[in-house]
Amino acid sequence: MNKRKNIKRIAVFTSGGDAPGMNAAVRAVTRAALAHKLEVYGIRRGYQGMIENDFVKLEASDVSGIMHLGGTFLQTARSKDFRTYEGRKKAFESLKSHQIDAVVVIGGDGSFAGALAFTHEFDMPFVGIPGTIDNDMYGTDYTIGYDTALNTVVEAVDKIKDTASSHGRIFFIEVMGHEAGALALKAGLACGAEVTFVPEIQEEEVELDKFLAKDYKNKKRSGIIMVAEGDRAGGALKLAEQVQQKHPEIDVRVTILGHIQRGGSPTANDRVAATQMGVAAVNALLDDQKSVMVGLKNDKIVHVPLSKVVKTNRDFDAELLYIQRLINSAY
Ligand code: F6P
Repeated sequence: MNKRKNIKRIAVFTSGGDAPGMNAAVRAVTRAALAHKLEVYGIRRGYQGMIENDFVKLEASDVSGIMHLGGTFLQTARSKDFRTYEGRKKAFESLKSHQIDAVVVIGGDGSFAGALAFTHEFDMPFVGIPGTIDNDMYGTDYTIGYDTALNTVVEAVDKIKDTASSHGRIFFIEVMGHEAGALALKAGLACGAEVTFVPEIQEEEVELDKFLAKDYKNKKRSGIIMVAEGDRAGGALKLAEQVQQKHPEIDVRVTILGHIQRGGSPTANDRVAATQMGVAAVNALLDDQKSVMVGLKNDKIVHVPLSKVVKTNRDFDAELLYIQRLINSAY
């Protein structure tokens, strides 16, 4: 039931770093809104498109055949203009020029921080859907894109392991994640990495020394060292250089996976999560909720205030790191 009587037209957009599954989320928001007899506008290129009034009306057929596509057909951007009041005011004027009553933003914590600032200044309900490969957001077990990125990393590292063992080399693999280690953590375990460096834990250089001194010299003869880009050790290149200087006899190589982690057809998990959250976002707006993020906790939809999401760091579960160390201590 549409508690908020005056919601007749909503806008949806994707913001920040793109993530596989964003299209599935836009599709679900659009279809759910139309099913509730609302009108839907897509905003192109994130907040920058909102400022520049780059809107497109969406019908059910406009979001057909996109669920399996990576990226975002609405495109996305990081908008410096939106960080200014003038920019946000222009964005509000654009929304009003299309008689938009509420907005769904699909993005990461930076996008939600923008939404929060906006809703403090203008009367416009915003609901956020967590869309980022980093899986670094408070209040939800899951952000759209993480599962696909994780599988992309595993597929790439499995290939690197072939050549590492052929040549008896140690590969330092750098993965994305911004300032979080979630991607590196699960990828490290899934790929059988000997050591995984994450920003949240700072003991892994000891683990690396142990591996090099014991396992590598005696039996392993090749290895994968997983490194989160935000790790305080300075990233894969720096770590590899340090190891090469300390152990000139070891054959070291570096692979920085980069933006391959942001593309690809979303996995079933990402498609399902995106669809659940897209429908939940429309329901939240119809239930008169605003400035909340819809998330998943133990596979159930939750609503978390944006103010809490933006200012709270996500808990880091180091358990997987200890499991990895135990597995590798068997040598
Ligand atoms: O937040 C998603 C993310 O892929 C991070 O993991 C990464 O550090 C960043 O975006 C890269 O940003 P850009 O695509 O602007 O280079």
